[in-house]
Amino acid sequence: MCQACHGLDGLSKVPDAPNIAGQTEPYLVAQLQAFKSGTRKNDAMSLVAQSLSDTDIDDLAAYFSEIEINVVKIPGQ
Ligand code: HEC
Repeated sequence: MCQACHGLDGLSKVPDAPNIAGQTEPYLVAQLQAFKSGTRKNDAMSLVAQSLSDTDIDDLAAYFSEIEINVVKIPGQ
């Protein structure tokens, strides 16, 4: 359900979707709850978040935060 835009690996597959791999779990939970409650609005996310239970949100946040990311190059370095 999320992978078309954010990838199974949490790396964005479409230009307007952010990478969410390795993001902190509390931040992901907060954003998904915000989309669900309407505090944060986005055409795609507000729609998908409606169908998520609190358990789904916790599970998804745990999944994407668990993905290890590696920064290999910093601009200008
Ligand atoms: C149709 C494409 C699409 C789908 C499907 C989708 N997203 Fe998103 N997602 C986006 C876009 C676009 C944004 C950026 C929203 C904004 O600009 O506020 C976003 C933002 C987010 C954010 C906030 C990231 C941040 O850095 O603040 C999270 C978390 C997230 N999505 C998780 C999910 C999860 C989990 C699912 C599956 C249940 C999902 N998304 C499905 C397109 C999508």
